[in-house]
Amino acid sequence: MQPTNYIPKAGPVQERISAREWVHELDKYGENLETEKRNWDQDYRQNENNNVLDLTGDTMVQEKILTQLNRETRRIYIAGCGARTHLQKAILSSFPSADIVCGDISRHALKLAMSSLTDSRVEYRLEDSTRLSFKDDCFEVVIVVNSVLSLDAISRKMLSEFHRILIPETGKLVGCFPTVNCGFELIHLSPALSYMLTDGSINYAKNSVWEHHQAVEQTFYSPIRLKNVINESGFKKMEMSYIFLDSDYFYKQYDDLYKGLFNKKNGLCIYENFVVATAA
Ligand SMILES: C[S@@+](CC[C@H](N)C(=O)[O-])C[C@H]1O[C@@H](n2cnc3c(N)ncnc32)[C@H](O)[C@@H]1O
Repeated sequence: MQPTNYIPKAGPVQERISAREWVHELDKYGENLETEKRNWDQDYRQNENNNVLDLTGDTMVQEKILTQLNRETRRIYIAGCGARTHLQKAILSSFPSADIVCGDISRHALKLAMSSLTDSRVEYRLEDSTRLSFKDDCFEVVIVVNSVLSLDAISRKMLSEFHRILIPETGKLVGCFPTVNCGFELIHLSPALSYMLTDGSINYAKNSVWEHHQAVEQTFYSPIRLKNVINESGFKKMEMSYIFLDSDYFYKQYDDLYKGLFNKKNGLCIYENFVVATAA
């Protein structure tokens, strides 16, 4: 039996947890932004990004993001917008005063997006989220859905840039950020996924996840780490919740991506961190 005066011994793990400097490198990712850009471009060329879970095509996700906008919202930046345009269309129809700028590092993604939506209120730009070409304080909202996934140091630069272009005090960051927590819960619930632990596809300390149908390893922040990274980028008030991807729209995608592992009957689904943060 454990003695009542039991005190856990402090070991090296505790030192690591208290460290403020958390920048880490991933092993399998493109070593830098150039290879990352090439990877994404190739991905879009091959299959319109079909081996990546698409969140913005789901109406529940769209609504959750749209509730963070208001009638007076005029300028929105969608960072790492990708090839799909459902979210843009939903914003256009519900917010008549809003103009949207969509940026991505992949030229090919932008080409695909433009071919599905052209509108005088939507502008497409080749933009690297780590050094945006916009001047300071010029957007009311930055939306980012699954587009802060790079090496930790690169992801942090992106968040600082989002903060820089937002109007101080009122500007809002709204986004979905995949979390390593979900991976661990799924592994626990489904033995079929346990290989992710044994082959190192998932690593909690590094907040990294590598799914076999994808070319690269990505940063899936755990909640405390994401909170600190966002605060360090200059944001102040922040709310974070989980968004559960459990609609029919997602179960259909899971069938393609994960071959029957996730279904309504077993209740397994992916969830992400949903973040709303205000610029300081
Ligand atoms: C997982 S996809 C998400 C796309 C879209 N937001 C969606 O939800 O469908 C990630 C996107 O981020 C873009 N991206 C990656 N690094 C970027 C960077 N440094 N600057 C701008 N976009 C980037 C990729 O080209 C890709 O389109």
